[in-house]
Amino acid sequence: MTLPYEEYLAEILIDEETLQKRIRELGQQISKDYEGVDDLLLVCILRGGVVFLTDLMRQITVPHEIDFLAVSSYGKGVREASGRVRIDHDLMSEATGKHVLIIEDIIDSGYTLRFVMDVMMARRPASLKLCTLLDKPSRRTIHIPIDYVGFTIEDKFVFGYGLDLDDKYRNLPFVGVVRLDALPQH
Ligand code: IMP
Ligand code: MG
Repeated sequence: MTLPYEEYLAEILIDEETLQKRIRELGQQISKDYEGVDDLLLVCILRGGVVFLTDLMRQITVPHEIDFLAVSSYGKGVREASGRVRIDHDLMSEATGKHVLIIEDIIDSGYTLRFVMDVMMARRPASLKLCTLLDKPSRRTIHIPIDYVGFTIEDKFVFGYGLDLDDKYRNLPFVGVVRLDALPQH
């Protein structure tokens, strides 16, 4: 994929200003909910969650650590959820006894996050909550309680702001809808 992203952009779904405003609100809410907690650990799911994490953490006033968990599903392709997920890169710090908040880009079928929540729960954190920038509830196969949602979106394939299109364009400051008809495989 060598063409600039405009070729693949159907529309801007959430612009930069709207994203940043909502992230400030989420940061305020999280800061309020975790007030007085001194062992908050933000666990970012790589790679999609990284842009969201770096903006969100600067809106959180509670002192906290950050760490990263890379997971991938066995299925390939933009729309497939195989239901099998594995850890590619584990946390570098201990989660046991800490208040863990998972930071994710998008929850689709729910398989990835169900796996992540189970893995983290087995480490006996003091608490475990989930924060996702985007939620696509219409695609959910596995029920998963979400504590903080940035935006609930329709069943559209999106990219930008951490989400990739063929591993690229994670740096776009907005969330855009992919023109599926412009992709070679579709
Ligand atoms: P789930 O396991 O089906 O919930 O899928 C979650 C993962 O699929 C996310 O972490 C994303 O990496 C990826 N994903 C789901 N929907 C989209 C999308 O619209 N654009 C880009 N990646 C997506
Ligand atoms: Mg991903």
